[in-house]
Amino acid sequence: MERVISGIRPTGNLHLGNYFGAVKSFVKMQDEYDCMFFIADWHSLTTHPKPENIRRSAKTILAEYLACGIDPEKAPIYIQSDVKQVLELYLYFNMNAYLGELERVTSFKEKVRKQPDNVNAGLLTYPTLMAADILMHKADKVPVGKDQEQNMEMARLFARRFNRIYEVEYFKEPQSFHYTAEAVKVPGLDGSGKMGKSEGNCIYLCDDEATIRKKVMRAVTDAGPTEPNQEKPEPIKNLFTFLELVSGKEAYDYYNEQYNTMQIRYGDLKKQLAADINAFCAPIREKIQTYSADDEYLQRVARLGAERASESAEKTLREVRQIIGFR
Ligand code: ADP
Ligand code: TRP
Repeated sequence: MERVISGIRPTGNLHLGNYFGAVKSFVKMQDEYDCMFFIADWHSLTTHPKPENIRRSAKTILAEYLACGIDPEKAPIYIQSDVKQVLELYLYFNMNAYLGELERVTSFKEKVRKQPDNVNAGLLTYPTLMAADILMHKADKVPVGKDQEQNMEMARLFARRFNRIYEVEYFKEPQSFHYTAEAVKVPGLDGSGKMGKSEGNCIYLCDDEATIRKKVMRAVTDAGPTEPNQEKPEPIKNLFTFLELVSGKEAYDYYNEQYNTMQIRYGDLKKQLAADINAFCAPIREKIQTYSADDEYLQRVARLGAERASESAEKTLREVRQIIGFR
């Protein structure tokens, strides 16, 4: 079975963008692939988070992954920092990674521009740590968004380079993976392109009913269509995308018809959307609360995940050490 590995930086709660863009497909993939999911807490250190945030946010993602339906028996969920072997591979890859190529990575250049007073070596070597995460477990496929494409290219480069330097056919090149043919992009309700944490426009899986209603009712709209069957401007299109995601075809068709015949009342649409988003989130929200309250279970899941990841990591490292010439 092909191995799939996915990492997420623990930077807070999961939102609907994370769910429809990633986690939903993880839940399906766990039945078809040999999946491993991990929480990239080392990667998150580049921004110097507070210790209590590190602890809390790893636990949060763990509970939320479980609530979404990831089954730790099928697919281990582990915390990156629980599997120390990755550090050793990270070190080996760093010896074969060149300053020039690391400096040319777009996301690094962006950080240099945006936070010139915190251009740390961890940021520079972010791609080598990510390559270690992936190659450690010989992943075939890595489900990532467009923004991670360059990091994936670096992982393939480091795999090829290792093979060339040591004249082996050891690491295979991992491929970026899109589970569904069409990438789902969850829009923001503020009329902007994308729902995202840094955009501050998220509906979180853990949001309560009142919060969801408030956020949806605040969604940006316009004065309404001025002629029949006209093309929908961005903010309105976004609302319809949401209808498609959570309300289903019938509701979508109904409001689409209302829009096309210029009878639409955005207030009604929003009320329906708020109710449907809440109906969608409610069972997940309840499970998040249950899992979050069960520290013992969360620890067991993380321990099980770490054990399985360590096994796979230890095997790779034994072979890599030998190839490099240690022992
Ligand atoms: P954020 O920065 O908003 O927390 P991340 O960049 O950490 O989100 O994304 C984690 C995962 O969720 C990635 O796989 C990403 O592609 C997916 N994702 C995030 N936002 C969206 C969105 N609005 N639509 C679709 N997928 C998304
Ligand atoms: N860089 C990824 C992100 O920001 C997170 C990540 C770290 C990752 N290591 C990984 C993703 C390995 C996939 C595989 O979203």
